Amino acid sequence: MTRQDHEAFGRQDGVDVAIPATLPKLRGLDHTLPMLRQGYDFIRTHCDALGVDGFRIRLLGKDAVCLRGPEAAQLLYGADGLTRKGAMPATVLRLLQDKGSVQQMEGAEHRRRKALFIRLLMGEGRVDALVRGFEAAWRSQIRPGLNITVMELANNALARAACHWVGLYPSEGRLARLTRILFDMSDRSGHFGPGTLKTLWQRRGVERWIANEIRAGKAPERSPLTILANEMPPDVAAVEALNLLRPIVAVGRYIAFAAKALHEHPIWCGLFNSGNADYIPDFCEEVRRTSPFFPFTAAMTEREVTWQGATIPAGTRVIFDIHGTHHDPRFFPQPDRFRPERMLDWTLDDPAFAPQGAGDVATTHRCPGEAATLALMSSAVRMLCCEMRYDVPEQDLSVAMNRIPAQPASGVRIRVHSID
Ligand code: HEM
Repeated sequence: MTRQDHEAFGRQDGVDVAIPATLPKLRGLDHTLPMLRQGYDFIRTHCDALGVDGFRIRLLGKDAVCLRGPEAAQLLYGADGLTRKGAMPATVLRLLQDKGSVQQMEGAEHRRRKALFIRLLMGEGRVDALVRGFEAAWRSQIRPGLNITVMELANNALARAACHWVGLYPSEGRLARLTRILFDMSDRSGHFGPGTLKTLWQRRGVERWIANEIRAGKAPERSPLTILANEMPPDVAAVEALNLLRPIVAVGRYIAFAAKALHEHPIWCGLFNSGNADYIPDFCEEVRRTSPFFPFTAAMTEREVTWQGATIPAGTRVIFDIHGTHHDPRFFPQPDRFRPERMLDWTLDDPAFAPQGAGDVATTHRCPGEAATLALMSSAVRMLCCEMRYDVPEQDLSVAMNRIPAQPASGVRIRVHSID
């Protein structure tokens, strides 16, 4: 890297901005394609090669900085002067959170909407009710001779449970289509192509259906759908209802990674099966640390901000490397080893462990669904280890690190022998 590289000037919307010399700049005109090609390992590979925790790139034709480590998490989940608006490419935004959603708000408006999500997802009995529905829907599928992938088993159960928990009661045919669409919304978020456009179009159809259900007023009084509908117009409530349904189905991906980990480390299943189910959450937290799910999160600087003494100018996209931080030996010794004994715990609020964001859930963009995610994963692990006997036939369990979001290639196929 030359001194010129360090002192290069970037251009933001026609204004020249000096980017501080302390953050090195990667060679090349634009790094969008290399980032997509390298996927989860892009930021950490370059950080390691440069011996830094942050560097500058050009992404989608604009200046961006890539950062890793707990201080980077604290910047994205705690510092003033950042916004999620404009941080994600339009297709990713539209497939995941969408315009008008809590994730696109800041300040007082964000805190008000976020309080609603916290009430719906962390209020007394809410997660328990969701888990009960999930377990019933999972058990109803299990029978001796069943040959299915854990991903499909979990997605079916999660979609049914999520709809009923939210206050929607689709016909069996609609539920089957909805399950696929909800899965595709996350699954296609890292791709651009005809499949993405199709899912975007299908998403609009689902939003219209939910808005019509709201207008028909059929949802139970205390259901999340009614609570959302009492606070906002039906089309916005439909967007936010999808921000409950879609991520609940996305937990199926973590459940598939958990099933892969159970297969590769059978000692844990034996332990859970012999009266030590209390360790299941530790196991699931280690699955969340090791599994490639959200590779990064992103924000835009609304004004100049400082990170480790370096100034990041207004209008810069800031990308926090979740996966690289989780695999950094400074924060997780022997990071490639699967070790539930680390006893990670999202409630302890360690900014190095940020699979669903970090910081104060009420005032930052940290995910309000962590309690639900962990409870659903723990329930699935318990049912896999303690309620059924199955084998895992020969299959491809490899994980392509350049496919976002990643998954075990086969989806983790199992053959059920008996029910305990
Ligand atoms: C499948 C596991 C999940 C993963 C990997 C995940 C990941 C994340 C991440 C990384 C963020 C932060 C985005 C940002 O910083 O801009 C986030 C925010 C969010 N998540 Fe999750 N999440 C999951 C499950 C859930 C669940 C189960 C729900 C609800 C049922 C949920 C609802 C939300 C919402 C509404 C936000 C936006 C919060 C805000 O902007 O204040 N997520 N999630």
